[in-house]
Amino acid sequence: MDFDRIPNRIGTHASKWDNMEGFSGVSPEDGISMFVADMDFDAADCIRDAIRQEAENGYLGYFGNVEPVTRAVCDWMHGTHGWDVQPDWVSYSHGVVSGFGMVLEAFSDPGEAIVLFTPVYHAFFRKAEAKGRRILQSELVQRDGRYEMDLDALAGQLTGEERIAVLCSPHNPGGRMWEPAEISALADFCAEHDLLLLSDEIHMDLVFPGARHVPTALAAPQATDRLVTITAASKGFNIAGGETGFIIVEDAELRAKIDAVQKSFGGTPNRFGMLMTKAALTEGRAWSEACRAYLAENFAIWKERIGALPGVEVMDMQSTYLSWVDFSNTGMTPEETNRRIRQDARIAQSPGAQFGKGGESFHRFNLAMPRARLMEAIDRLEKAFGDLQ
Ligand SMILES: Cc1ncc(COP(=O)(O)O)c(C=O)c1O
Repeated sequence: MDFDRIPNRIGTHASKWDNMEGFSGVSPEDGISMFVADMDFDAADCIRDAIRQEAENGYLGYFGNVEPVTRAVCDWMHGTHGWDVQPDWVSYSHGVVSGFGMVLEAFSDPGEAIVLFTPVYHAFFRKAEAKGRRILQSELVQRDGRYEMDLDALAGQLTGEERIAVLCSPHNPGGRMWEPAEISALADFCAEHDLLLLSDEIHMDLVFPGARHVPTALAAPQATDRLVTITAASKGFNIAGGETGFIIVEDAELRAKIDAVQKSFGGTPNRFGMLMTKAALTEGRAWSEACRAYLAENFAIWKERIGALPGVEVMDMQSTYLSWVDFSNTGMTPEETNRRIRQDARIAQSPGAQFGKGGESFHRFNLAMPRARLMEAIDRLEKAFGDLQ
């Protein structure tokens, strides 16, 4: 567990590094990548051993017998998040976004709408649009420096064509952890307006020490008959290349609808994703704890220094490694802040407009990197915005 080791991921098929120039114009040779959401850390030894063992076995055919993986998922959910998931509630998707697409197909038709609480993870927009679903953006409001849902305003926006409300919990971007009462209020809203509640909990295993993720299923038990949870071990354990997500549904009728859609996709899970997931969830706890403590420390340093730049607000967060930074009080346009971040600081970040309404003046920065590299990024940004007063 050496989180300080600086890896060179250039030329390793790392989307975060090998796609950065095309995405941002910043060369990986002298730039720092802070956009794609994975970590510049080695995966836990238990995961690497599982892959090594597989290569040694040499049998790389179709994956069968998901039961030991499902047991690992259920044990982890119980032991870490206090949720008693039964094995038959769990099915697999090729990544969480793909599971998101399956849920859209199962519970809405083209032309119908989904509700997104924006700013929120950009792939939700792309996936919904690709499937011909319309998006109703319910803008989060900031109170005391944190985002809150405005369900009264949303009630006035509904047209009757919405079928699904999507909760991102913990929230990306911004790392907000919703309180159980807020989740429960959303569930009641969904019942009142007959919406499916889709809870994306992929960031559940990235909470900082002292914080606790409460699954939507526990915060809103009254929503069992309208709740679908999509999640994975991929974010928390840095194994997103394994493209393995879980769809967890207690209600048998909802499950049957998803099963029907899943049948129309490839049925066999990714061998490596499944084995990495099993290793992570059965043997990876110590790595996860150390990693989250490191990330929390990265965030504390980042917030102290970047938050000290005049007019720059770093939103407080209790989870994830995706820091959401508001430049609106700098008096600069988003184009100008983007130019300074990319051209002057040579950093590839995610511009906030990608995340929907309310994100325009922000940029999102991925802090999951060795401390020395983070310090370098902070130095560069301090220099690029050194004229702020
Ligand atoms: C909220 C959320 N859902 C899903 C994903 C991606 O899931 P996957 O790579 O498994 O499709 C991300 C990645 O950042 C995310 O933030």
